[in-house]
Amino acid sequence: MNTSTITITSTEIRPALSFRLKTETAALHELMHTLMERGQPFASRANYARFVEAQYHFQRDIEFLFADPAVQAAVPDLQVRGREAASLADLADLGVVAQDDVIASADVSMPAALGWMYVSEGSTLGAAFLLKEAKTQLGLSEEFGARNLAAYPEGRAIVWRRFVASLDRDSLEGEQHEEVIAGAVAAYGRFGALLKRHFNLA
Ligand code: HEM
Repeated sequence: MNTSTITITSTEIRPALSFRLKTETAALHELMHTLMERGQPFASRANYARFVEAQYHFQRDIEFLFADPAVQAAVPDLQVRGREAASLADLADLGVVAQDDVIASADVSMPAALGWMYVSEGSTLGAAFLLKEAKTQLGLSEEFGARNLAAYPEGRAIVWRRFVASLDRDSLEGEQHEEVIAGAVAAYGRFGALLKRHFNLA
């Protein structure tokens, strides 16, 4: 008998955390589409700047987590991630000064921090479409106004796959998966609230 057939454990057959995140938060991703459609970020540079300010506050929440050694251990390539500086530079390009806001992730730690990062990293993966709109509708670019939507230098897919590998390492126990998913739900809640605030949506 092939020994690999008798070493299967419950760890190996549970659904991957990345799969659970994608499927269990799909409705919240859809809600982001709805809010973006209502906010019309590509109707004008002024509308788009509202989106960038939401992005900036969310990215501050995300990069706040990077200082935590437990997050650094869980995601070893944090130095290539995060779009706080890019969002701030975009706001400057657009002539907008960000309002003050709290850090919404101040009380977030591992493993929920991974769920927050999932939402941010996934939004980078899906931002190719938004970048195209910013270019064609508003004349912006990765060097002016739309840095926050640019691919990471290594490419969107590669950096995403590395993040998914961090999520799907076997070192997280099953019950910790629930906390990661709750973190992702909270992060979507934060981004949704920011979009509503900055687009003036009810
Ligand atoms: C109109 C706005 C948006 C569009 C058109 C969009 C589009 C997409 C697309 C096409 C993907 C799949 C990319 C791929 O597999 O190559 C994706 C993934 C994702 N997006 Fe969005 N997105 C939008 C807004 C957002 C926002 C605002 C967030 C969160 C703040 C977000 C979070 C995510 C996440 C977490 C994933 C990864 C899903 C997974 O594979 O687990 N998206 N998006």
